[in-house]
Amino acid sequence: MDKLTLSKIKSLKGELTVPSDKSISHRSVIFASIAQGKSVVRNFLRAEDPVSTMNAMRALGVEIEEVKRVESRESKVNISKSIISSRASEEKYKGDILIIHGKGLHGLKEPFDIINCGNSGTTIRLLSGILAGNPFFSVVTGDDSLKQRPMGRIIKPLKEMGAQISGRSNDSYPPFAVNGGGLRAIDYKMPVASAQVKSCLMLAALYAQGDTTITEPFKSRDHTERMLFSMGADIEIEGLSIKIKHNPTNSHLNPFDITVPSDFSSAAFFIAAALLVPNSEILIQGVGINPTRTGLLSVLNNMGAPIKLENIRDISGEPVADIYCRSAEKLYAINIGKEIMPSLIDEFPILCVLASQAEGISEIRGAEELRVKESDRIKAMVTELRKMDIEIEEYPDGVQIRGGAELKGSEVESYGDHRIAMSLSVAGLIAEGATTILNPACVDISFPGFYEKLRLLEIKLR
Ligand code: S3P
Repeated sequence: MDKLTLSKIKSLKGELTVPSDKSISHRSVIFASIAQGKSVVRNFLRAEDPVSTMNAMRALGVEIEEVKRVESRESKVNISKSIISSRASEEKYKGDILIIHGKGLHGLKEPFDIINCGNSGTTIRLLSGILAGNPFFSVVTGDDSLKQRPMGRIIKPLKEMGAQISGRSNDSYPPFAVNGGGLRAIDYKMPVASAQVKSCLMLAALYAQGDTTITEPFKSRDHTERMLFSMGADIEIEGLSIKIKHNPTNSHLNPFDITVPSDFSSAAFFIAAALLVPNSEILIQGVGINPTRTGLLSVLNNMGAPIKLENIRDISGEPVADIYCRSAEKLYAINIGKEIMPSLIDEFPILCVLASQAEGISEIRGAEELRVKESDRIKAMVTELRKMDIEIEEYPDGVQIRGGAELKGSEVESYGDHRIAMSLSVAGLIAEGATTILNPACVDISFPGFYEKLRLLEIKLR
């Protein structure tokens, strides 16, 4: 599929689920691989990025069994009606189950070949923390997009910890080669808020002699902290600092049984679509609402969006809710900066679309990290939304958008970036005339079945 055309729709209605959380799926596979024994991962996201992680861990000698779509109805006895009904709806979005035979921290083997991480920044960065800790040689690379994403941010601190790493362009980009082992602890102040960098260093710290401290400028997503802590790692969190303590007599990590919630970042496209398309009302079930991920909800609240969180519960140590939302009668412009950016980092493209329909001029700043995602997302959104007649100005660190635009359907480019493709598709649903998305298949990176899900909600695709 090299192009796909959408047209304006009249309404969007129904209950739906979106795919499992990408960040938690990656972490489940990586952490289970270095745990001592067998872990179970339920609702694993079978999308291109997490599959890259699974292949990488297999290349390091980890046995991963895949059990497809098991519809289990166990543990329904003696539980209250309300729990029964919420469990029953959770059954509907059961995805794949993985059984991972963890090798322990020191049981991985040297890979026989170069490890290709595809399009996945999370795979290459988290994996590198583990490779740096292990006394063997490895080489990692990725697709053309990943080969242009900055790796100095992990290579520099990993070298300070004692790993030997050489990469392209003076240790800045993939491919890079790692000779790991013999790490020492460091006290590291991260120049950018990045969960990928933080998680990489936390993993390396598990192998280092001494206690490592990592400090972020702003809080990024904390799935790694939650999961490693629940596996028995000795972690202390104080404000923006995380201390990973090394215990030479007991350094093993416990295996786990985890159920991955649905991905808030995938839900965001349907939330936006429901807000923007008239006569819409949707309920998205079982979505992760970890506060380090839901900055978009606070922003939408300030914009006056009618959204409600229902049935808030805890699943495997993460807060989860059903998200109800309907068409917004009016949205107000917003002004946001770098403090909130890490908690909505992946929602920048869809927030641009939302801001184009708000009353007033919005500014979204402090977003320079968006320049080094799967594409330069600032430039991509500025270029493509202009084609749709949106008044949008580009800053080095963000955008200014004049709201209230009447969108014009046009031919727009996804740049092979899944979140750009989905954001422009949502714009296409409210544009006059046809919108053609070039290279739409990249949605499979995080949201296989995105277009089918739109169709199911009775959206007309041509
Ligand atoms: C991710 C962290 C974010 C995010 C990416 C997934 C993660 O990157 O953009 O999609 O799983 O840790 P940074 O935290 O490096 O900005």
